[in-house]
Amino acid sequence: MSSMKHIDNIPSTPGKFKEKSSYNRLRLHFSIAKLTFWSFVFLGLIFVCFFRSPSSSSSPASSDLSRRSLRTSSYDGPAWEKRIKASAKIRSRNGISVLVTGAAGFVGTHVSSALKRRGDGVVGLDNFNDYYDPSLKRARQTLLEGAGVYIVEGDINDVTLLKKLFDVVQFNHVMHLAAQAGVRYAMENPSSYVHSNIAGLVNLLEFCKNANPQPSIVWASSSSVYGLNTKVPFSESDRTDQPASLYAATKKAGEEIAHTYNHIYGLSLTGLRFFTVYGPWGRPDMAYFFFTRDILKGKSISIFEGANHGTVARDFTYIDDIVKGCLGALDTAEKSTGSGGKKKGPAQLRVFNLGNTSPVPVSDLVTILERLLKVKAKRALMKLPRNGDVQFTHANISFAQRELGYKPTTYLQTGLKKFVRWYLSYYVDGKKSAQ
Ligand SMILES: NC(=O)c1ccc[n+]([C@@H]2O[C@H](COP(=O)([O-])OP(=O)(O)OC[C@H]3O[C@@H](n4cnc5c(N)ncnc54)[C@H](O)[C@@H]3O)[C@@H](O)[C@H]2O)c1
Repeated sequence: MSSMKHIDNIPSTPGKFKEKSSYNRLRLHFSIAKLTFWSFVFLGLIFVCFFRSPSSSSSPASSDLSRRSLRTSSYDGPAWEKRIKASAKIRSRNGISVLVTGAAGFVGTHVSSALKRRGDGVVGLDNFNDYYDPSLKRARQTLLEGAGVYIVEGDINDVTLLKKLFDVVQFNHVMHLAAQAGVRYAMENPSSYVHSNIAGLVNLLEFCKNANPQPSIVWASSSSVYGLNTKVPFSESDRTDQPASLYAATKKAGEEIAHTYNHIYGLSLTGLRFFTVYGPWGRPDMAYFFFTRDILKGKSISIFEGANHGTVARDFTYIDDIVKGCLGALDTAEKSTGSGGKKKGPAQLRVFNLGNTSPVPVSDLVTILERLLKVKAKRALMKLPRNGDVQFTHANISFAQRELGYKPTTYLQTGLKKFVRWYLSYYVDGKKSAQ
């Protein structure tokens, strides 16, 4: 403070400052030294705060390796290991131990709680990024904690953290759901897609391949890999080389990366192409979610049309059906054949569509929401922009039906009713603000 006062005494007009005596010169030097000292203290404090800030507040793109490895030190310790071991404890006879990445996400929360309910050991991993309201992720975390699932807060790119996790628990399965989701956000923050969906996937597979025994991996690809295809319904054998968004391109890249790790290291890999998943605890960036918010607020909603007023439709799939598909994939996943980075024989490599097989026009979705919310929507028809969305999705699920016993059973009306009930209790009765 005193040095600040002294600086204020120096005339601000250049050329007006006169040295009056050696005493004044000495005072000035002393003050500059003090100022330099306090500046260093201040910078030091900023440095400490910066490196110790929790990863929850970091955006996906803001995590470089050195920052992440410094953060990791707080994960260490006997109490941390105890929580992980308790969460990973298998409580049923044929149970499995699963690392669920993206556990604080929409699908991750539902899958983790379903696994825990049937007695499997589950440890979650999530970086709680702020792509959408992190408080929703925290609320899901609280839900899972109540069910006995611990979510480790960290990034799938964090080498030190993954090493610690694999040292503490011998996971025999990994359910990899962590990703940068959403198609339009890729124009705003493309590097977050590369960070999570490509670099993060490779980092995770590196650990899995080096583990002994190697786990079997089930991971989320996306229906968006079908891109600009016009042949419907979409089958797993269709071409997937015309992505319409960077998101789709990173998921397609993930499928090729999976092929490589299966081929070279004998990792058992199953990719699941989800089709527009919806339900309670869903994602605020998805249309059914923000339509609900905007209809309730009396705001107008944009409904897209294809060329020549063509219908935009989605194969909306209810979360409980997706969860059954994920569990079916985990239960039918064969063991990886390699160990410690060496392949010992051919391993399973699969890709499945998980959809509902009945596309619904987005305008019909709005009509159902209007009925459930008892509020008329202010509809604004707009041309489908060319920034990532495709006009139509429709899954052929016969392969998943045959191999996983996958059979979706939830009609859109029924699923949306459950979503709306949750939405009203969470945001309206719970007085949370929907952003
Ligand atoms: N919901 C859908 O309709 C849908 C459709 C197709 C594919 N998918 C895929 O399914 C998976 C789950 O989707 P969701 O809807 O639950 O999305 P979500 O965004 O709710 O969940 C993803 C979670 O991963 C976490 N995450 C992101 N990057 C991470 C990183 N680098 N390290 C650690 N955690 C990270 C996020 O914080 C988030 O909680 C994703 O891979 C997504 O691409 C979803």
